[in-house]
Amino acid sequence: MTRQVIIPAGGMGERLGEALPKALVPLCGIPLLVRTLSAFLPLGLADTAVVTIPAGHESSIAALLEEAFPDNHITLVPGGVERQDSVRNALAALRSDTELVAIHDAARPFVTGDAVEASFEAAARVGAATVAVPAIDTILVSDGDGYLSETPDRSTVWYCQTPQTFQVAIIREAHETALRKSFQGTDDATLVRRCGQSVKLVRGDFTNLKVTTPTDMTIAETFIEKNLVCV
Ligand code: CTP
Ligand code: MG
Repeated sequence: MTRQVIIPAGGMGERLGEALPKALVPLCGIPLLVRTLSAFLPLGLADTAVVTIPAGHESSIAALLEEAFPDNHITLVPGGVERQDSVRNALAALRSDTELVAIHDAARPFVTGDAVEASFEAAARVGAATVAVPAIDTILVSDGDGYLSETPDRSTVWYCQTPQTFQVAIIREAHETALRKSFQGTDDATLVRRCGQSVKLVRGDFTNLKVTTPTDMTIAETFIEKNLVCV
């Protein structure tokens, strides 16, 4: 099946607190977005990438990607207010013959080719898949007033990661439904599940962390320095 990749990179990285948008922040000298896109090069998918970018950074990101990936034509689309808006913009920019799309956050530079391929394989079979890892910590659900409401059985709890990979018609319909119902989610698989579609959980790696806070930057640098990730 024909495949493409969407890389949401349109956020400002407020929790990281740097002057630059998070995708442009260097991690051991290389901007996060460049590291993340590089993970798709050996799979032959960098050429298919649709990257959402923050307003005001169009020319700097275009120049950065031209320099880092001179042989690949990467499509840039405007980011939206929320991540979900950015992904919707990117879905509209897919090639008309694309059948499967993997959506992978720019903020996760250490994704492995195996995880990407496993998510495509599951999405081709089931329609929708998300990479995830089994929870280590017990998860507590609060009642909203700071008291414990319930404790889900840990063996059923997984931490969400990306890529989340879909048959294109399924993810497009899920985004249209979410827009119509004014539902905002923090990931795409949840939108698909709300439409009644099965979503396969594909076991990933704990090293596929999302760089969100300054502490995550320190962890990510340590992963690189200790050769715990292939980059
Ligand atoms: N993203 C996006 N468009 C937005 C918001 C987020 O494309 N309007 C992207 C980010 O660039 C990131 C991914 O979605 O690669 C996951 O979002 P997150 O880690 O929350 O990044 P930011 O929104 O940039 O960070 P913060 O929430 O701390 O501001
Ligand atoms: Mg965010």
